[in-house]
Amino acid sequence: PVIVQHADPQRPIIAVSHRGAAGHAPENTLAGLDAARRFGALTVEIDVQRTKDGELVLLHDATLTRTTDVEEVFPDRESRLVADYTLAEVRRLDAGSWFSPEFEGEPVPTLGEALDRMRDLDLNLFLEIKEPARYPRIEREIAVELLRRPAWLEHNPAWEPRRLVVQSFDWEVTRSSKRLLPSVPHALLGRVPEDRLSEFTWAHMVNPNHTTIDEDYVELLHEHGYETMPYTVNSRAAMDAVLRMGVDGFITDYPDAGQRAIRDF
Ligand code: G3P
Ligand code: CA
Repeated sequence: PVIVQHADPQRPIIAVSHRGAAGHAPENTLAGLDAARRFGALTVEIDVQRTKDGELVLLHDATLTRTTDVEEVFPDRESRLVADYTLAEVRRLDAGSWFSPEFEGEPVPTLGEALDRMRDLDLNLFLEIKEPARYPRIEREIAVELLRRPAWLEHNPAWEPRRLVVQSFDWEVTRSSKRLLPSVPHALLGRVPEDRLSEFTWAHMVNPNHTTIDEDYVELLHEHGYETMPYTVNSRAAMDAVLRMGVDGFITDYPDAGQRAIRDF
């Protein structure tokens, strides 16, 4: 089968800064985007979920417990799912202190705010549609948010080649997003079984957990026309290992260390 967009060996290998810059600042916050830039990232990965009143926000977990003070602010609420809180309620939460007192009061941002901040910082984006089964049609709402900011959909060959990648562990929803945003490269998260690699001709990338792959699998992905940027590659040894496998980039909490590993490779 013919693949829509092929892996290009001329492209630079990139370090994608994970959840903002999760090693340096509270994940999925505007402060994290600032930190990503400060630590040399050109491309940042974020996770998107939805509030009770339908607002798209940056959050990794389906619940607010780990990364906010929701238990202090709303001690009597039973549910901790972000889907059970309005944006106004989510805005009362501190999403920074759990990481470090330095980030006290850092809010959970909306996707719109994050997109605008990333354009101000000249950052490229890997947008993960997180747990879409909880949020019917979330990919449409994300597409609308991006279409409102058409610069995200332009190709700029003079700059980082990948301005925007949309990705998800849910491959059906990834497919649906690709239909809505045909010009945008899409990535399948997770390891696609060898016997299914011919199925996803519309996908640009396959991004598995780095512990689940080897050189042969990376070669197989390239043979099928996919680029691959595994996650979450944090130690220097793991970075060197995936670079030796021939990956096109990797997703890391430490963009500074990632750039160094790529430079030295
Ligand atoms: O970009 C892929 C990676 O972020 C997937 O794992 O759990 O950090 O969202 P997770
Ligand atoms: Ca993610």
